[in-house]
Amino acid sequence: MKKIAFISEKIKKYNKKIYIPGDKSLSIRFVLISSQAIGKSTAHNLLKSEDVLHALKAIKKLGINYRIKKNTCEIDGKGLGGFKYKNNTIINAGNSGTLARLIFGLLINSKNTVILKGDKSLSKRDFSRVIIPMKKFGQNIESNNNKLPIKIKGTIYPTPINYFESKASAQVKSCILLAAMKTSGITNIKSFPSRDHTEKLYKYLKLPIKIAKKKEFELISFKGTKNYKAFNYIIPGDISSASFFIVLTLLTKNSKILIKNVNVNNSRTGIIDILKKMNGRIKIKNKKIYKGEEVADIECRYSPKLKGIKINPKMNSRAIDELPLIFCLACAKAKGVSYAKNLGELRHKEQDRLKFVLKFLKMIGVKAIEKNNNLKIFGNPNLKLNQSYIIKNFMKDHRAFMLACVAALAFGGKKWIIHDADAINTSFPNFISLLKNLGAKIH
Ligand code: S3P
Repeated sequence: MKKIAFISEKIKKYNKKIYIPGDKSLSIRFVLISSQAIGKSTAHNLLKSEDVLHALKAIKKLGINYRIKKNTCEIDGKGLGGFKYKNNTIINAGNSGTLARLIFGLLINSKNTVILKGDKSLSKRDFSRVIIPMKKFGQNIESNNNKLPIKIKGTIYPTPINYFESKASAQVKSCILLAAMKTSGITNIKSFPSRDHTEKLYKYLKLPIKIAKKKEFELISFKGTKNYKAFNYIIPGDISSASFFIVLTLLTKNSKILIKNVNVNNSRTGIIDILKKMNGRIKIKNKKIYKGEEVADIECRYSPKLKGIKINPKMNSRAIDELPLIFCLACAKAKGVSYAKNLGELRHKEQDRLKFVLKFLKMIGVKAIEKNNNLKIFGNPNLKLNQSYIIKNFMKDHRAFMLACVAALAFGGKKWIIHDADAINTSFPNFISLLKNLGAKIH
């Protein structure tokens, strides 16, 4: 794959139907949770991106076999006590924060030490958010200042815990739920709402999870030590990947797109609610429930009347991965000022995404002010770009690369030179070919 994408033309109008690859969160959860099921589990449409391949390699290191076939992936789970591996086994999570956080839960009772590593971006991220609850379960963890590489050794008798998860982090919540499985008691989590794929999968597997939704937070309780049978899963499209096409269509004159079969779990659809409030023309069609998850088609049209928005901070976790795209494209082009608050979590992603947003908006000449992780963007519906833009040094953040491509195709400009095109392999390997199918010129 070419390492630099060159774009020097806006995309022309299109009217297309597309399919987006499988959801990354669901794919990683399928791999990890089926690795401890009893028997062969099969996934259709598993995302074949680097993050998911790292998850598959991780379970292989723990002694679990898998086979990738044309449209399916089979995993031979060996039950809750089924992992077998040597002391000091190295697991490389690559770029994947989700894999790296969730695997602590799987290893809660590991007899041998695992050394967890990651790429340059992941090695800069802070793991205290999982180290703190895992130590409460009794796991032994050695790290240098809560950063990778980290040595993990389990405890034979993990104790159930009561934990307040204060970051609205699904990774932390899921890690705790995985660890709780191997305790012989009830773990209670009080958590601000975040994506709930793990809970939905547990319910589908008939595992003893209870969830009480309160006004501000959720109370989750889960009773451990129960084996479960292998299962099959058809992974729907990833709304985070679909988002790039949603925003591109909203900003491209006379265009329309139908994105088929996307996961529209309510904890993930913040982008749709936000864009609709901004006058984005988006419709959800053919909604169905599949194993507890909502799946639907998303239809979007060119939306020339985008207006600024005050984003309720409660919405942040429902759009956590899409906020930079919303800020840098939709808010930049909207009429009026947009406001967003409490954006601190954006600083803990594949790169400091809040910093990236500010740098990007400045580069394209859109005024933005940030103070204490609160953001104000002065949108410009007449935004016209006529310079050349270079995007580089963004820690190979896959979403930053894709955002820049969409900006180039929607806003135009003399030339965009966007580095590290291989970043898309993390979550959306056919991103560029799908754009080319819509008529985009990318060299
Ligand atoms: C994810 C949760 C989110 C999200 C990430 C995937 C998951 O992270 O940003 O891309 O699959 O659980 P946090 O839980 O840290 O917010």
